[in-house]
Amino acid sequence: MSFTIAIDGPAAAGKGTLSRLIADHYGFHHLDTGLTYRATARALLEKGLPLDDEATAAALAENLDLNGLDRSVLSAHAIGEAASKIAVMGKVRSALVAAQRRFAGQEPGTVLDGRDIGTVVCPDAAVKLYVTASAEVRARRRYEEILARGETADFDRIFEDVKIRDARDMNRAESPLKPADDAHLLDTSEMSIEAAFDAARSLIDQALKTK
Ligand code: DC
Repeated sequence: MSFTIAIDGPAAAGKGTLSRLIADHYGFHHLDTGLTYRATARALLEKGLPLDDEATAAALAENLDLNGLDRSVLSAHAIGEAASKIAVMGKVRSALVAAQRRFAGQEPGTVLDGRDIGTVVCPDAAVKLYVTASAEVRARRRYEEILARGETADFDRIFEDVKIRDARDMNRAESPLKPADDAHLLDTSEMSIEAAFDAARSLIDQALKTK
């Protein structure tokens, strides 16, 4: 049976970086499930289709190819906002969750990161991590990433956006963002990515021993 690691948490908590480090270290397949919502949203935007038509969005989600999802193409703020809107739709979620579960079955193991992996997509995952950080720290990281790219940004606006996105992800009826009962909490507000990786590795090594 495939060994699955579920990593959930709010935007900009560090779960993407942590997931990639873990997947590389163990030689596991990695899926950033946020990209599946973003790619569906981008397809709607590109075709000029409305963001509030559930049947149309679900049809695109059903035909999504998980190969070749690229964050650099899908990172635009407008795509993230649109993704967060279609992510509240039950039919979109069930199409994408089915594709994510097929991905999770691959040998020798998989790392999936998102909002509902430990709670809905892979409730039987061998290890579940919930990676979080304060909204202010996450906004600061986003802000610094943008400045590092040589672009300009308004910290207060980013901070507001982070809080609005959190509220939408945490309060939606369908699969709201929350830690699974058996998830290990990693608060990266005052923790380096290396320290978070060390903590994750010791939990995963322990689970691999008892596999
Ligand atoms: O992590 P991200 O910013 O790429 O995610 C974009 C949106 O997709 C986010 O607002 C919520 C949604 N999402 C989700 O509902 N479930 C997931 N497993 C991953 C992302």
